[in-house]
Amino acid sequence: MKAIILSGGKGTRLRPLTYSGAKQLVPVANKPILFYCIENIVEAGIKDVGMIISPETGQEIKDATGDGSRWGINIQYITQDVPGGLAHAIKTARDFLADSAFVMYLGDNLIGTGIDKFIDEFKRNMPEALILLKEVDNPKQFGVADVSPEGRVLRLIEKPEVPPSNLALVGIYIFSPKIHEAIERIKPSTRGELEITDAIQELINMGCSVESFVLDMWWLDTGKKDDMLTANAIVLDKWLKGNINGQVDNTSRILGRVAVGKGSVIKESTIRGPVVIGENTVIENSFIGPHTSIGNKVNIIRSSVEHSVIMDESELRNIERLEESLVGRRVKITENRKTHKALRLMLGDDSVVEV
Ligand code: TTP
Repeated sequence: MKAIILSGGKGTRLRPLTYSGAKQLVPVANKPILFYCIENIVEAGIKDVGMIISPETGQEIKDATGDGSRWGINIQYITQDVPGGLAHAIKTARDFLADSAFVMYLGDNLIGTGIDKFIDEFKRNMPEALILLKEVDNPKQFGVADVSPEGRVLRLIEKPEVPPSNLALVGIYIFSPKIHEAIERIKPSTRGELEITDAIQELINMGCSVESFVLDMWWLDTGKKDDMLTANAIVLDKWLKGNINGQVDNTSRILGRVAVGKGSVIKESTIRGPVVIGENTVIENSFIGPHTSIGNKVNIIRSSVEHSVIMDESELRNIERLEESLVGRRVKITENRKTHKALRLMLGDDSVVEV
């Protein structure tokens, strides 16, 4: 069994962060989302991984991820010229996949469990496709499956007006090589993409067996700000181990699970976990509240932050209260009392500021 991880795409929903970088490298609890996908694939015993990249952000993904040796696997990079859809990505990886069955994992999806059970199920029944589903409250916003009581997929509908069920398609699939035949038979959708839902529907129409597996753990598509913050909070809650490698002075208080990286200094501050702080970061006279991830070389001075992600080399000074915020790299947020109450901003395209 091989795997492909989809790390191309446009990332429009996470702009402006995705102007300067790949969305799959946005950190969740200080680790790129993509690495959680890789680890899940590694744990399932898969050694051959094709990484689908775009011409725009591919180099950055390669630099961050390497050839896979750090996980004991082989990663081969496959450039998809245009973000032509999930089925187009499979088509692009045709030579790499050869006649192997494979897992397709969307590089911005996080699930609260491993994928071994799911692969075992595929190997036991040998369907042409096994799709992962999750019960959701708002099925109209997803690809939705109509499933028989035995778990056979009868029909797939993209963002249905009248959903036949509340089972949404999660971004993890397993296919036999038969999927290539189905992809050859489909046409681009109205948005101009070769849709994976159309390809799976085509398999069903061809009389192939398409099975489903309903996930009983959390699943997050980290494509949007609020989903990113939820993912960060859940990962910190479930997986963070407290570990202090930096310096904490004796006027500071560390409460709950807190990880502090090497070279970081905490002075006269309170940190209430779960919180992760990277390396060479300074926190002074500040309060860091639960569900916050702070990157490397960040300075937080006389400020209060909670339920937020602050990425590398950013700075916060005299900020009374920052909450539910996603702050990119090298951002400066400072208070300026000298110029009355005016706000002075320099923001990139698509920034969102609530004051
Ligand atoms: P999406 O989040 O559906 O698409 P996108 O990245 O274009 O994002 P947005 O909607 O914010 O503009 O893609 C899911 C994953 O698959 C994501 O990791 C990007 C990747 N992908 C590809 O690699 N190739 C593609 O052609 C598409 C559509 C997505």
